[in-house]
Amino acid sequence: MINAALDEAMMRHALTLARRGLGHTWPNPSVGAVIWRMEGEQPILLGRGFTQNGGRPHAETEALRMAGDAARGASMAVTLEPCAHHGKTPPCAEAIVKAGITRVVSALEDPDPRVSGGGHAILRQAGLTLVTDVLKEKAFALNRGFFLRIGANRPLVTLKLAQTSDGYAGADGQALMISSPLSKQRVHLARASHDVIMIGVGTVMTDNPDLTCRLPGMMHLSPIRVIVDTHLDTPVNARVIATASKVPTWIVTAHDASAERESDLSQEGVSIIRVAKDNKERIDIHVLLAALAARGITRVFSEGGPRLAETLVEADCVDTIEIITSPEALGRPGTIALRPHLMSALADPLRFVAKGTMMSGRDRVQHFERVS
Ligand SMILES: NC(=O)c1ccc[n+]([C@@H]2O[C@H](COP(=O)([O-])OP(=O)(O)OC[C@H]3O[C@@H](n4cnc5c(N)ncnc54)[C@H](OP(=O)(O)O)[C@@H]3O)[C@@H](O)[C@H]2O)c1
Repeated sequence: MINAALDEAMMRHALTLARRGLGHTWPNPSVGAVIWRMEGEQPILLGRGFTQNGGRPHAETEALRMAGDAARGASMAVTLEPCAHHGKTPPCAEAIVKAGITRVVSALEDPDPRVSGGGHAILRQAGLTLVTDVLKEKAFALNRGFFLRIGANRPLVTLKLAQTSDGYAGADGQALMISSPLSKQRVHLARASHDVIMIGVGTVMTDNPDLTCRLPGMMHLSPIRVIVDTHLDTPVNARVIATASKVPTWIVTAHDASAERESDLSQEGVSIIRVAKDNKERIDIHVLLAALAARGITRVFSEGGPRLAETLVEADCVDTIEIITSPEALGRPGTIALRPHLMSALADPLRFVAKGTMMSGRDRVQHFERVS
């Protein structure tokens, strides 16, 4: 196999590893690294790793640990430029040099101002062969949330909305089971790969959801729950509050919300974040997302109702949309799922591109990606 093809194959493997960390490495990106050497025409895999929960150890550290002394003279593929700054541990770029790696295949530069070319420079100065921009677009897409947090002051936002075949997301005032069991499992899986799940207080009031990942063996991967609640109306006995000591829960509210309510909710272990309101007296979406980014959040899974979905799209802050449509009709007037901004954004090829449709049990799932 020629080098370029092998480099891509190793990078693909490193990207697969990196994907495993999504949702668990914030505020850091999720990175994958693979170490190999050639035996004749045959690549021998010596080490592999991905960013561990909480962002450390880094992928390179994990892969070097696995390879041990065998790393001397070997090659490494890494999905993001190795770090160059002294944090809790020495920089990965220095560790790579020290371990005796002679050739590094890197997907792209880290935009973090503490790195930003510095990691690559350390490798070059030490005389290593450096190949950059290998599967750059794929590596960029994988850590889009991290890049948005650094470059656009907001996390990546994935929007999920389920509707009946006649277009309703709810039955006024009552919880409605729309998605099939398989679709629910897919949603739980998606929860585990995001840093937070976000809903509006309207959904708390109607559905009283747990918002945890309840797939077997994955409960510990439940992300933070974020409730958007202008007036701190979330009841203290809501499930998300009652379980706040086990699964972190943040409520984003307005500066003028009641201090007494804040005290009641804080006592249950909820963190209250106060932000500015928009001109409609609701939480300002841009300020809300900037507040999450400031806390290190890179990936938001929005599972709120049609109102929150609408304002997120209106604010132009949505990156991926998943619409789940059940074959069953509500058969009477309810809460319309696709409000005007969301409806027109989905039909506008300059804003969202339809990436495909799949069946999930009996449901049809349409996937849209932001054009930018
Ligand atoms: N099918 C689905 O996928 C799905 C998912 C979730 C919910 N639902 C259904 O949807 C219905 C609830 O709909 P909903 O639209 O009221 O729920 P929601 O979007 O989760 O909550 C909306 C509430 O969030 C608060 N909020 C604060 N700032 C906001 C902002 N900038 N933009 C939008 N909302 C903001 C507002 O209440 P304050 O002004 O008091 O803060 C608003 O009324 C229920 O029937 C529920 O069962 C369906």
